[in-house]
Amino acid sequence: MSDPAIGGRTPAAVEVTAGEELWWCACGLSSSQPFCDGTHEDTEFSPVQYIAPETKRVFFCTCKRSKNAPLCDGSHKELPL
Ligand code: FES
Repeated sequence: MSDPAIGGRTPAAVEVTAGEELWWCACGLSSSQPFCDGTHEDTEFSPVQYIAPETKRVFFCTCKRSKNAPLCDGSHKELPL
């Protein structure tokens, strides 16, 4: 599998509600980062379901390099310039 596109270089802070279902973009091509907009259709990637465990602010990965996807793990700091 090839690397996904870099969708952004900083995480996206999102206020989520307990039980809310969201679909995180894994391909990096969505125009609605960090979420899927269907652009992955012709790629090898599929969106990742996220169900909020509680109501709070979370930081979604946009660089698509996180080892803790869909949430940020700081990997964007290691991106080449
Ligand atoms: Fe990227 Fe759907 S647009 S996974």
